Amino acid sequence: MAKKQQAIQAIRGMHDILPEQSPRWHKVETTIKAVLDSYGYREIRLPIVEKTELFKRSIGEVTDIVEKEMYTFDDRNGDSLTLRPEGTAGCLRACLEHGLLHNQVHRLWYCGPMFRHERPQKGRYRQFYQLGVETYGMAGPDVDAEIILLSDRLWRRLGIRGNVELQLNSLGTIEERAAYRDKLIDYFKRHLDLLDEDSLRRLETNPLRILDSKNPDMKGVIAGAPELMDYLGEESRNHFNELRAMLDDLGIAYVLNSRLVRGLDYYGKTVFEWVTDELGAQGTICAGGRYDGLIEQLGGKKNFAIGFALGMERLLALVEMQDDFQVEPTVDVFMIRVGSEAEKAGMRIAEQLRSELPKLKLLVNCGGGSFKSQFKKADKSGAEYAVIIGDDEVSQGVVSLKPLRSDREQRNMPVSELIQVLSEWLAC
Ligand code: HAM
Repeated sequence: MAKKQQAIQAIRGMHDILPEQSPRWHKVETTIKAVLDSYGYREIRLPIVEKTELFKRSIGEVTDIVEKEMYTFDDRNGDSLTLRPEGTAGCLRACLEHGLLHNQVHRLWYCGPMFRHERPQKGRYRQFYQLGVETYGMAGPDVDAEIILLSDRLWRRLGIRGNVELQLNSLGTIEERAAYRDKLIDYFKRHLDLLDEDSLRRLETNPLRILDSKNPDMKGVIAGAPELMDYLGEESRNHFNELRAMLDDLGIAYVLNSRLVRGLDYYGKTVFEWVTDELGAQGTICAGGRYDGLIEQLGGKKNFAIGFALGMERLLALVEMQDDFQVEPTVDVFMIRVGSEAEKAGMRIAEQLRSELPKLKLLVNCGGGSFKSQFKKADKSGAEYAVIIGDDEVSQGVVSLKPLRSDREQRNMPVSELIQVLSEWLAC
């Protein structure tokens, strides 16, 4: 006898989205798509694999993502490739490659899986979905305000606006950050005894990231560090103040967070995060900012770019916590067929119903079974109605319509009447 094989399981941190979960994803995705449409954003579909060099050059060599989280492998011809850890770099690469940045303005979005080899925990996965928005060719700050407004509208449509907070900061220009970096290194060097191991390492490589430390013991020393805001030049300061004035005018509340530095190196000027305290440690559901400098870094001409990405799993988790979040049933009508004539007639009638009522969600029982067992399946399917066809109904030229979740009575009727009744009752 063959030895029983061990079942193979999914990779740690990589999840299946099961059929019972997908209606919730669809509802959230449909809502997001409607909001993106209403702001004139267009979809771009990008490869999941890119050259490793792209991420090194854009996200930054000394970021957590590039240093330790990328899924990198050699292609069969020896090229180093990486499963995308985020979408900004690939989106910009595509737009540069296809000449979309030449004297043009673009408002784009993408959605798909991203890959980071992080320690998996609630809200943090190794494969996760991001919905990203990127705009090109606009210096802002009006477009900065626009993408924040767009995200704010998303939260309102999804019923979570009361559960999220907008945090805002400006990182200034590369030169301004460099001056600040020196001051920061001076400061931390004077407090070496208070730094944890991670921060000591970052002091040499990426000192701004120390400000982002989640270690509670580091809170005190971080609180006393110099403020980047004090090192911003006039243009960066004006940009930020104008954005703030726009948000004030539009009634978008925000919290200034001078310690918000982001984990990717390409940002300059505006950065923001939408955070919630309802999801535990992984509370950032959406994050982004301006990255004008990246365009030249990737070989383009001087231009402007700002965008954000939201984590779909985190967003879903937050949306599902709301009491009034409901999804439509996946089946409206379950068709029960018993007897060989009924089985044939049922298939024909089902096709007729789908032609006449294109929005109808009709599930036909396949594989036979008694009335009793098919009724059980109808009930389990969540359908509102059962259409029952036995050989008796076939010989009388009728079908029977049975409401499964209301007191309405079961009734026989010809197919023409069934079409009318279903179209009225289900508004389809
Ligand atoms: P990010 O902050 O690395 O930014 O990721 C954006 C969002 O993706 C996070 O706020 C979070 O909701 C979600 N996310 C990140 N890592 C994970 C994970 N391991 N598991 C689950 N969710 C996660 C970016 O990726 C930038 N590309 C955003 C951007 C677009 N900036 C400008 N344009």
